Amino acid sequence: MAAPDITSTPFALDEATIASYRVNGFVHVPNVLTGEEVARFRAAAERVHATKQVLSDAPVFNQIFQVWKDDADLRELTLNADLASIATQLAGVPVRLWHDHMLVKAPHNGAATEFHQDAPYWPHRDATRSLSCWVALTDVPVERGCMTFLPGLHERRDIRPIDLNDAKDLFSAAPDLQWRPWVTIPLRAGDVTFHSAWTPHRANPNDTDEHRWAHVNIYVDRDVVYNGGPHPATDHLGLADGDALPDDEFPPLPR
Ligand code: SIN
Ligand code: NI
Repeated sequence: MAAPDITSTPFALDEATIASYRVNGFVHVPNVLTGEEVARFRAAAERVHATKQVLSDAPVFNQIFQVWKDDADLRELTLNADLASIATQLAGVPVRLWHDHMLVKAPHNGAATEFHQDAPYWPHRDATRSLSCWVALTDVPVERGCMTFLPGLHERRDIRPIDLNDAKDLFSAAPDLQWRPWVTIPLRAGDVTFHSAWTPHRANPNDTDEHRWAHVNIYVDRDVVYNGGPHPATDHLGLADGDALPDDEFPPLPR
């Protein structure tokens, strides 16, 4: 797939890619960013990582939250029309940004991000197609913390929030998943994966001497409403149970 001009939309996926996502609940889209874009966005990621407060600095990863609000380069990546267009085609419904975050695994961090679904952490009512776009800003081979997915489970809605520091927790909550196949996807810099918010996934520890730089855009159904629960993306907004997500904080995409 040719690297697109990021100013042109939409980025048209082939039918096989969309069908694969609908069957498996995740898909690998190679070469979405050019080498020049990767270099610029990684420089921004390194700058932000050095200066901005982390939401979580557990060994599993440094989480730097809502970078689109503070950094002009990373704002361009979070609001990127091609990535949002791909997300819309995969979701099959209009979407908006829920939040972004950079997930940085330090060299030899010694901790996997253990299997979990994303949606159970989020205060959304009636979301059906929410999904994440995981952008590799460096090569991410298996030993640097690439992602692993359990295919075909994105319709599962019965699993509680999982402790992503605990390798056994997902399988305690859903013992039937223990013998499912794992699909691990090493990425070249500029590749992305998309995964449904209900697809169980994990990421390996980083056993290399280089940081793992991942930038994640999270999209939700555009018409989702807030359910009153706690979350750093909504806690400061004074929303009431049943409110729509405001467009200035959660922009409809692509725009
Ligand atoms: C990770 O990159 O370490 C985890 C990403 C995710 O949970 O979506
Ligand atoms: Ni996750």
